[in-house]
Amino acid sequence: MTGPLAFVSTHLGGMPRAGRTRHTSPVLSPSTVETTKAKTMSESFIVTVEPLGRQVVCRDDQSILDACLRAGVWLPHSCTHGTCATCKCEIADGEVDHGEASSFALMDFERDEGKLLTCCAKPRSDVTIEADIDVDEDIEMFPVQDYVGTLVAKDEIARDTVRLIVEVDRDIAFNAGQYMKFTVPGAAGAEACDRTWSIGSPPTQGRTLEFHIRNVPGGRGTDGWVFKDLAVGDTFPMSGPYGRFVLHTGEDNHTIMVAGGTGLAPIKSMLRHGLENEMYEGDMTLYQGGRSREWLYDVDFFRALAEEYPQFTYRPCLSEETAEQVEASGDDPAAYAYGMVTDVIAADHPSLSGCKGYLCGPPLMVEAALKTMMAKRLFPRDIYREEFFNEGDKSGGVNSPLIKR
Ligand SMILES: Cc1cc2nc3c(=O)[nH]c(=O)nc-3n(C[C@H](O)[C@H](O)[C@H](O)COP(=O)(O)OP(=O)(O)OC[C@H]3O[C@@H](n4cnc5c(N)ncnc54)[C@H](O)[C@@H]3O)c2cc1C
Ligand code: FES
Repeated sequence: MTGPLAFVSTHLGGMPRAGRTRHTSPVLSPSTVETTKAKTMSESFIVTVEPLGRQVVCRDDQSILDACLRAGVWLPHSCTHGTCATCKCEIADGEVDHGEASSFALMDFERDEGKLLTCCAKPRSDVTIEADIDVDEDIEMFPVQDYVGTLVAKDEIARDTVRLIVEVDRDIAFNAGQYMKFTVPGAAGAEACDRTWSIGSPPTQGRTLEFHIRNVPGGRGTDGWVFKDLAVGDTFPMSGPYGRFVLHTGEDNHTIMVAGGTGLAPIKSMLRHGLENEMYEGDMTLYQGGRSREWLYDVDFFRALAEEYPQFTYRPCLSEETAEQVEASGDDPAAYAYGMVTDVIAADHPSLSGCKGYLCGPPLMVEAALKTMMAKRLFPRDIYREEFFNEGDKSGGVNSPLIKR
């Protein structure tokens, strides 16, 4: 077993690996480093990111990912809380504290081999990391910054689901599909914590952001704050934008978008950007999954969008409500598909070859949709996805072997 002391990894060496190209870029001058050190109470270290050769200053109470994203150095990441393993890198040199990395996302033998999760690891010396940086040259990634949000509207839109409209103190630049971190105040003397929620509005609305949030019983951010004390007029710290689940604009493949629950938020941002802002040239189809109509929201919005844009098809899917029940309530049964979204997709498409997939929602739904798409001849590299991991998933080992990190 690994004891608490083993959470600090030391790795020595620092040589670039064979076969990698070392790029050079300006190194921070000692005076810049010293100035930054002097501004903070905590100690700071230099993190060198290979193969980019970029150097950033990172406080000892700050994750390496946070320091890099704020400095405009893009590193792969998804959940930003030690669960998904997307941010796994190698330590070429130096010491880190692994923080709250889940033992499923970063196993003990990986820690021993000198791997780290940049979203959790904090430097304990100057550190050099080796990252697999797979940047899409067509997408501009914006540095993470701090903002102050003011809640201007909070409306119940479906069962256990609210829409928040948040005005930020200045315009924020982001890509359709990205998310923000909210600082959730600590109740009764507890420490504040961060929670991540995806932006549901398009990037052309940089000042007023929309969020869709589902209540999680016992959850600190939802049950303990959003669904409890958070009221219109409240202000709170936020930071962003985060994430790599973004609309790949300018393509003309047919996109098949699958949203489970509030997984609709980033997909709504993408659809509005693609259609209303004319940023996507191909057909777009949305499969929105819910148990029954009370769990679905924005149905009229997407129906109107489908009327306005012939390249857009909307398929709301009900997994536990039948056509007879829909008809008996006076609604049009033909307006819905019936069954799990995955079954509806499989029935709609003999093959998905040539399409692009965008999947978002609970981890199990994303995995099921991934399997369906692969069975329909779509390669994993053509399927973009975001799983809504929460704190409970850290202890559950929910990472799918299908999903390469
Ligand atoms: C990239 C990303 C984007 C997201 N976007 C959205 C979005 O747009 N909308 C949305 O609704 N959600 C979204 N989520 C999920 C969101 O971040 C939160 O995880 C979710 O809202 C629950 O937060 P919470 O603080 O209420 O629950 P948490 O405090 O995280 O708790 C979740 C559950 O786990 C249990 N739990 C807590 N700690 C432990 C532990 N140590 N061991 C075992 N069980 C534990 C709790 O009792 C609770 O049942 C997103 C997640 C990610 C990763
Ligand atoms: S981004 Fe680090 S584990 Fe998910």
